Amino acid sequence: MSRIKATITALESHLPDYILTNSELEKMVETTEEWISTRTGIKKRHILREEGKGTSDMGAKAVKGLLEKRGIGPDEVDLLICCTVTPDMKFPATANIISDKVGIKKAFSYDINAACSGFIYSLVTASKFIESGEYKKVVVVGADKMSSIIDYTDRQTCVLFGDAASAALLEPTEENLGIMDHIFQSDGFGRIHLHMKAGGSVKPPSYETIDAREHYVYQEGQAVFKLAVANMADVSVEIMKKNNLDSDDISFLVPHQANMRIIEAVGKRMGLDKKQIMINIHRYGNTTNATIPLCLWEYENQLKKGDNVILTAFGGGFTWGAVWMKWSYDSK
Ligand code: UT7
Repeated sequence: MSRIKATITALESHLPDYILTNSELEKMVETTEEWISTRTGIKKRHILREEGKGTSDMGAKAVKGLLEKRGIGPDEVDLLICCTVTPDMKFPATANIISDKVGIKKAFSYDINAACSGFIYSLVTASKFIESGEYKKVVVVGADKMSSIIDYTDRQTCVLFGDAASAALLEPTEENLGIMDHIFQSDGFGRIHLHMKAGGSVKPPSYETIDAREHYVYQEGQAVFKLAVANMADVSVEIMKKNNLDSDDISFLVPHQANMRIIEAVGKRMGLDKKQIMINIHRYGNTTNATIPLCLWEYENQLKKGDNVILTAFGGGFTWGAVWMKWSYDSK
């Protein structure tokens, strides 16, 4: 077993300027501020409205800020992984475009698509490169312009999502800190409940698919809700048991931010107090691949070296999982 562990050493995020509030959504679809707040916990979300800008523009800003914060140059990066469901283009990978925009020239880069579990899958993938000893600096950026695949005439989905990018830098440590363990699962049968109907190889874009509004997120909310609670709670409890961690040992749970009621139910199953749970869904909504690093970034000042942190996500695929990390630095 390698002695080297991979740990997050810096975080940075980018949120587009425009803020879409619940009261504005009231004017767009048949909904109310009260329904959105009580059923989802969301109050507002950021939206990238500038013409011609996409996921890579937000991702590049987050990554640029990340490197500046850590005081390293683009040439020091060995690998960049972007997790996204809203790539700039079908190809090339958004990771390639972000690297180009940031001036990262001495690295390779690629995308991972695991929907809302993309960040935790990517983090663990990145950690394996670090643990190999061959790679010293790996950037993982979760970025989604969800507004590009949301139907703003569908009240069931348009109130849920926001746009954001958030990046983490992974570096090696020889202390017993960083990414300690993970449990991941997926089940493609779940695609019936959460998918985009057209635009892929099965149903390429056509006038018919556009007329039928098939290029947007399709979600059967209730089915996804139940499985999100059950599966995130199961893997989180399992990873705690496997590593002899009690609820008192956990400094923070960092759950994917899809619905406040899901977050609370998972925390309850794990025996956690609300103050042990990172929550920012009220300000950003569901930013898909960015939710978890966005939470870590916002709570960075509250994290201390040695803290036990559990990350958990559930999303399209279905994909889900949990990661146990021991935080490795105190914020200045
Ligand atoms: O990140 C990927 C994973 N995604 C998730 O984890 C999301 C999981 N699902 C959810 O978060 C919830 O299921 C939703 C927020 C999507 C929906 O909440 P719900 O409590 O499950 O509502 P529902 O779908 O059971 O709908 C209840 C009622 C329905 O009306 P009727 O049939 O009872 O008359 C809906 O038509 O609420 C209605 N409704 C709305 N009403 C006002 C649905 N959307 C809205 C809306 N405003 N925006």
